[in-house]
Amino acid sequence: MADKLKPDWAGEDFLSRCVNRLIESKPLYRLMKNQARQVLIKTATKNGIPWKEDCRNLEKSEVKSLLEEITNPNITYPDYYLVPFHAYDEGNLCWQAAFEADSATQSMALRVWKGENLTPEAAQNRLRGGFHQILDNYSPTVVKDILDVGCSVGVSTLALHRYYKQKQQNTLVRTVGLDLSPQMLAVAKVKDEKQEISQWVHGLAEKTDFSDNSFDVVTLQFVLHELPSFASQGIFTEILRILRPGGVLGIVDNNPASPVIQNLPPALFVLMKSTEPWSDDYYTFDVESTLTQVGFDYKTTIASDPRHRTIIALKKA
Ligand SMILES: C[S@@+](CC[C@H](N)C(=O)[O-])C[C@H]1O[C@@H](n2cnc3c(N)ncnc32)[C@H](O)[C@@H]1O
Repeated sequence: MADKLKPDWAGEDFLSRCVNRLIESKPLYRLMKNQARQVLIKTATKNGIPWKEDCRNLEKSEVKSLLEEITNPNITYPDYYLVPFHAYDEGNLCWQAAFEADSATQSMALRVWKGENLTPEAAQNRLRGGFHQILDNYSPTVVKDILDVGCSVGVSTLALHRYYKQKQQNTLVRTVGLDLSPQMLAVAKVKDEKQEISQWVHGLAEKTDFSDNSFDVVTLQFVLHELPSFASQGIFTEILRILRPGGVLGIVDNNPASPVIQNLPPALFVLMKSTEPWSDDYYTFDVESTLTQVGFDYKTTIASDPRHRTIIALKKA
């Protein structure tokens, strides 16, 4: 673990402020964004991720016809969600982002163990496996109801569901995925071919329609780095309400204290900051204190892989 708590390229440091000035230039941002996209797709394809094929297959599927039934018309999108994100002008609210999300998720896992020549599947299993192990150590003895908040296209949701189902062969496990993007949820539904997930819910994580005390396990996997800290705090409060006493919240996300993250090459951190607008806020956000402040029993933070940390908190029994 590095001595520094966060990278110099995030927050109020001189380097961070220089980066922020640089990315204010719109033409430069557009150029960088397009080049980075091409590199990302090329690298993914070279590593066995069928990026373009997956998009083509989704385009041909029934996915777009699912949008209306999935969309919750009562949702008002918060301003922080309506900004360009990950090089998509409409952020997560567009088909391109949704069609590419599975491949981008596979690429993200491969990057963690770049030198090891893993297959995309092996990397994904290792990424999720490290998190599940820690989560399991703090889970109630019997887990029946699981919620994956910010489920995107369901890669995290399916892996989580299968983990608990496999572990508790005699218990019926009901898993729900919630996301604010109806396009992501439509793709999740198509990819959930065996309908293993009970429900794909279009909802705002800060204000869900779930009853009090309705889940044993709730996860936030790679969601917080996409949010301003006030939104994360609102989500923690809502999760505390819907967890059962003794239930567990598991968070996995970029680790500000990771030497790999702190020493990213300048081109990469500039790009990351330019396509993830809440980076400064995330890398300086004290997640653990905020969990305690909203009423969780904070348990631990563990570097679950070279780039990410797992944070565990319980709802007091
Ligand atoms: C990086 S993706 C998560 C990936 C997924 N959990 C995984 O581990 O593969 C972040 C997701 O959080 C969702 N999200 C962001 N803010 C949200 C909010 N306030 N309520 C619900 N979902 C939100 C986004 O739409 C996006 O799909």
